[in-house]
Amino acid sequence: MVNERRPDDMKRITTPELAKAYIDEQIELLRQQVGDKKVLLALSGGVDSSVVAALLIKAVGDQLVCVHVNHGLLRKGEPEQVIEVFQNQMKANLVYVDATDRFLDKLAGVTDPETKRKIIGGEFIEVFAEEARKLDGIEFLAQGTIWPDILESEAGIKAHHNAGGLPDDMKFELVEPVRILFKDEVRVVGKELGLPDNMVFRQPFPGPGLGVRCPGAITRDRLEAVRESDAILREEFAKNGLEGKVWQYFTVVPDFKSTGVKDGKRTFDWPCIIRAINTTDVMEVTVEHLSDVLIDHLVNRIITEVPGINRVLFDYTPKPPATVEYE
Ligand code: XMP
Repeated sequence: MVNERRPDDMKRITTPELAKAYIDEQIELLRQQVGDKKVLLALSGGVDSSVVAALLIKAVGDQLVCVHVNHGLLRKGEPEQVIEVFQNQMKANLVYVDATDRFLDKLAGVTDPETKRKIIGGEFIEVFAEEARKLDGIEFLAQGTIWPDILESEAGIKAHHNAGGLPDDMKFELVEPVRILFKDEVRVVGKELGLPDNMVFRQPFPGPGLGVRCPGAITRDRLEAVRESDAILREEFAKNGLEGKVWQYFTVVPDFKSTGVKDGKRTFDWPCIIRAINTTDVMEVTVEHLSDVLIDHLVNRIITEVPGINRVLFDYTPKPPATVEYE
């Protein structure tokens, strides 16, 4: 429902039964709202947009058109998982756009963090709008707005990204089926909808993606080193029971090189920084201390498996004074 508010007495959705009741109710409401019209959704693969997609697929099937824009700054395996889950398993109407070259060409040589963010955000909207223009008869735009987004925008903390800043000539009615839910409730609903655990319990991932973890001007080789080291870190956290327990963890490859030695020869390569943090509100964060055994193993894997890395560092800095991301 448009502008729906969370009822004061709404019970927190914590069980599969409550999730099922919510899903059934939303399917009914979505069918009423959308009728036989078409709905467009920017599907990032994050938990909120994934749950919205799964709900709409159940409610209106192929009247939903999902657009997955790969900006080249996604984690290893992410676009493949979106295609596997939504196109192959859920039979969604999915438009996959590999816009990697377009984004990376625009970002070439750009060092300023805010300019990088603006380019990524602006280009995303352009690619999405171009895809939307190719489609006929779209009347609705689905969004993964959740209740804290509404509360934060009302409190003036965060501007809510309503309608994603689409050009003025593109007017759609909004469809927001998780609008009255808190994040933990979205996850319970996602699980009940059959989405995979690594999608439902996914750690936060910034919109500009790995771009903010490749500080300074992004180059393809350094970006690849971020992606590969991040994949190793995630794999090891999952193996060691830390997935879902540590709030956020990732790697950063800064734009400087240092001397090393490998197979008796001098190397001149980048360091890889590991960051692992816990928080409840992201205003203040503490560092997750890893065991020496795990650190040694991570160092060994990253320096042997990731081209261009000859050193691994661990970031022990809380927030404040450091932010979570490096840009
Ligand atoms: P910072 O670095 O501000 O990060 O301490 C706090 C949380 O926000 C995430 N983050 C972003 N998320 N777009 C996003 O969608 C962004 O530009 C962005 N910057 C930071 C960050 O990953 C952390 O969880």
